[in-house]
Amino acid sequence: MALKGVILAGGTGSRLFPLTRLMNKHLLPVGRQPMIVHAIKKLKDAGIHDIHIVLSKQSAGLYTDYLGSGSEWDVHLSYIIQEQASGIAQALSQVEPFLSSDEKFVVLLGDNLFEDSLRSNVEKFMQSKGARVILKHVVDPRRYGVPVLDGNTISHIEEKPDIPQSSYCVTGIYMYDMSVFQIIREIKPSNRGELEITDVNNAYADLGLLSYDIMDGWWTDAGTFESLREADTELGIGDEQ
Ligand code: DAU
Repeated sequence: MALKGVILAGGTGSRLFPLTRLMNKHLLPVGRQPMIVHAIKKLKDAGIHDIHIVLSKQSAGLYTDYLGSGSEWDVHLSYIIQEQASGIAQALSQVEPFLSSDEKFVVLLGDNLFEDSLRSNVEKFMQSKGARVILKHVVDPRRYGVPVLDGNTISHIEEKPDIPQSSYCVTGIYMYDMSVFQIIREIKPSNRGELEITDVNNAYADLGLLSYDIMDGWWTDAGTFESLREADTELGIGDEQ
């Protein structure tokens, strides 16, 4: 069965107010295109043509205006609405009815922008059990989910820790099997009232089923004005991006 893709593009984009009062974060321009096009191209490059995009209600019409069916990028897009910004794991749970019981799939957070191709990561994921995440060495791990490594697997992830136990961040590039949906049903909302993807990943880690790769090329999550500018500089305005 062909691997599916999921792009999570809900949320409020509060760190980019007031820009995100105008339109949803993932439609903001980065280089020549709206941010979300980057994720579509990365999935396509990894051989994934069937993509579900989870959106907030804000700007939903703008997404379909710009992206349409996805044919311009030679992919098939479908759109799912997340009614409220109740967390990354809650957004992911919306996709379950659109997948069959034995699928594996790749999830991208729509604000993650990066250089490397995901092809080799996807190949390794297809041959392994459980979930796989991609790590990046960062100077400020306290802003992210931070892994504690144990050989080839991750033993635990701490979300935005005061004292990080490694200098890696867990990027918003996740690969799951269908057991992720049962895990989401079992986790509880965090102190900020969201279903956290880190709690989901820790459920896999507890079973010894959370593998990882480390990304070499540049990576940023464009959730702040500084990182949005950084992404714009990296992608530039060449013909291709
Ligand atoms: O970018 C990597 C980081 O992303 C990870 O290191 C963290 O472990 C992970 O929790 C996440 O942290 P952020 O604080 O950056 O997540 P944020 O709330 O900014 O949401 C990131 C994306 O997830 C956003 O661009 C759209 C999607 N999202 C988020 C929420 C809260 C949804 O689709 N729905 C939601 O309700």
